[in-house]
Amino acid sequence: MGSYDPYENVKSVMEQAMTIGKIDRAMFEIIKNPQRETKVYLPVEMDSGEIRVFEGWRVQHSNIRGPFKGGVRYHQDCNLNEIRALAAWMTLKCAVVNIPYGGAKGGVRVDPATLSERELCRLTRRYTYAIEPLIGSDKDIPAPDVNTNAQIMAWMLDTYSMLNGRHCPGVVTGKPVELSGSRGRTSATGRGVVISAKLILEKYGRTLAGATVAIQGFGNVGGNAARIFHHQDARVVAVSDISGGIRKADGLDIDALSLYIEKGGKLTEWNEPGAERVSCQDVLTCKCDALVPAALENEINEQNADALQCRFVIEGANGPTTVEADAILERRGIVLAPDVFANSGGVIVSYFEWVQNVQEFSWDRDRVKLMLEDIMTQAFAILMEESEKSGCSLRMAAYIVALRRLLYAEKIKGLFP
Ligand SMILES: NC(=O)c1ccc[n+]([C@@H]2O[C@H](COP(=O)([O-])OP(=O)(O)OC[C@H]3O[C@@H](n4cnc5c(N)ncnc54)[C@H](O)[C@@H]3O)[C@@H](O)[C@H]2O)c1
Repeated sequence: MGSYDPYENVKSVMEQAMTIGKIDRAMFEIIKNPQRETKVYLPVEMDSGEIRVFEGWRVQHSNIRGPFKGGVRYHQDCNLNEIRALAAWMTLKCAVVNIPYGGAKGGVRVDPATLSERELCRLTRRYTYAIEPLIGSDKDIPAPDVNTNAQIMAWMLDTYSMLNGRHCPGVVTGKPVELSGSRGRTSATGRGVVISAKLILEKYGRTLAGATVAIQGFGNVGGNAARIFHHQDARVVAVSDISGGIRKADGLDIDALSLYIEKGGKLTEWNEPGAERVSCQDVLTCKCDALVPAALENEINEQNADALQCRFVIEGANGPTTVEADAILERRGIVLAPDVFANSGGVIVSYFEWVQNVQEFSWDRDRVKLMLEDIMTQAFAILMEESEKSGCSLRMAAYIVALRRLLYAEKIKGLFP
């Protein structure tokens, strides 16, 4: 990631939004900083008998508008400033789509591909034990992020429930449906990305049907978005993962590709008539209507922003575009749906999951999908209105809307003590 610092990125965009939105700065220092940062050291016995100690964090950015909420990332490059940025983005995101949560994020510095399943389970249980005093259904609710999934949430739920002597389903979201998870949660972030693309395309007189889409990252967000785009008659012309990319001008067969990947196939070894192997950068810069970065931070930056050939960027990942690249895209007239809106589908359905857990109730998939689309459509209308009123990008509009809501809540709550 070089010298790029996502935490500086989010703070600098917040500063700009405060100025453009002419927001009263009285409470701003509070929201700029996280409320609590916890560092943990996690001793884990490897299958070989060796003991390794992993570093982990939980950063609780804000609970002004509701319990802390945010995913857990397992990655070899995880560091405190990345987790701080991700926690702040969660606070902003929940405020943008107006759900009653604050923001948090957790992470462990580990490459999970180097661990066996049993080692991964022991690491997850030890991490849950270490942050157990901080989390709970009305305190802080973790969820999946990069390299974590429903299985890891099941281990977290079980560890927390064991420590508390009762079944505590509301402590994590993104759980398997069989363990009080919500229908539609696994694909929710990808679905939200597609909803964002549809709303933006419609605003510009276009439809999803026939639109060409390129997607960077083929994990939970990118893979599900690809499938849903495909089912809504968009043409997915290029996809990539960490190993490389593939491109096909008249659209890849995403259903067949997804099935192949699910069965353990490698994306770069995918064989489809007319498909060619390309680099990850080629996918970012290929000609398409909508580009969806759905991997990590800092992927669209000063080096490649001028080379993008899309009309729209829909940020599936958190923080994929740097501040410098944002300015370049704006100058070039490329319209961007910002992460704090475009990937909010995950936390919105996490909220539905939590509501179902608290009520000990279960909704069907169609209800979840309709309610997700409803919340995102309402939020989009408010962002468009703010962007037109303030003459600013949708990212700036989203930050302005979120900061106003957060700072107003802070003001009427008053400062403790
Ligand atoms: N999972 C969620 O519900 C959720 C919700 C909101 C936002 N996000 C964000 O979306 C992004 C992806 O998360 P995910 O859950 O899909 O993770 P994941 O681990 O399921 O998938 C990540 C994908 O990105 C690929 N990748 C990594 N580096 C790459 C590179 N340089 N070029 C191309 N591909 C690369 C990986 O190979 C993998 O396919 C992250 O920024 C995450 O914070 C996730």
